[in-house]
Amino acid sequence: MNPPPGMERVLFTEEQVTQRIREVGVEISEKYRDRDLKLIGVLKGSVFFLTALARAIEIPVQIDFLAISSFGGQATGHVPGLVRIEKDLDDPIQDQDVLLVEDIVDTGFTARYLLRNLAGRGPRSLAICTLLDRTVRRIIQVPVEFRCFEIPDRFVVGCGLDYRQLYRNLGYIAVMHPGRG
Ligand code: IMP
Ligand code: MG
Repeated sequence: MNPPPGMERVLFTEEQVTQRIREVGVEISEKYRDRDLKLIGVLKGSVFFLTALARAIEIPVQIDFLAISSFGGQATGHVPGLVRIEKDLDDPIQDQDVLLVEDIVDTGFTARYLLRNLAGRGPRSLAICTLLDRTVRRIIQVPVEFRCFEIPDRFVVGCGLDYRQLYRNLGYIAVMHPGRG
């Protein structure tokens, strides 16, 4: 696939992403050995990361998905923090060890909303695993147990992250020119 118009540079190559996901997969396998692990992906951004991560995890896992609409964040330029579940999980998570799998934790509004919502369903444990963490923009402090990469305050695409619904299918993470996010 050609680089997206408006791409400034590659931040992490496909090889770096694959390698790092493998490492985090091993970490998770060790932490959750002999437990009932369920990965919960947030559509659509985390699909690519979740499937790669699941393949890198060495213990059996269940997966489920939910979809949200968020009326905030860097992508829309609106007031952050308004999140709603558009498609819920298929199954209960009661007494399960749940890992919320995110493409990026940015301001933290989405993660806080989802953590609170899922916590109310009585999981045995609940933690976040994110591909990208942009702590420099954090407004809401949320615990991030597993993260692949910390990133600078720039708009990025690839590995599930989109610009106007495009470029999710890039195997690498790219920084866009200012004005493209
Ligand atoms: P939050 O600000 O932590 O609530 O994140 C909101 C959402 O904004 C994320 O789940 C992403 O879908 C989106 N987002 C934040 N930063 C970026 C980016 O750099 N590129 C693409 N999407 C982003
Ligand atoms: Mg997202």
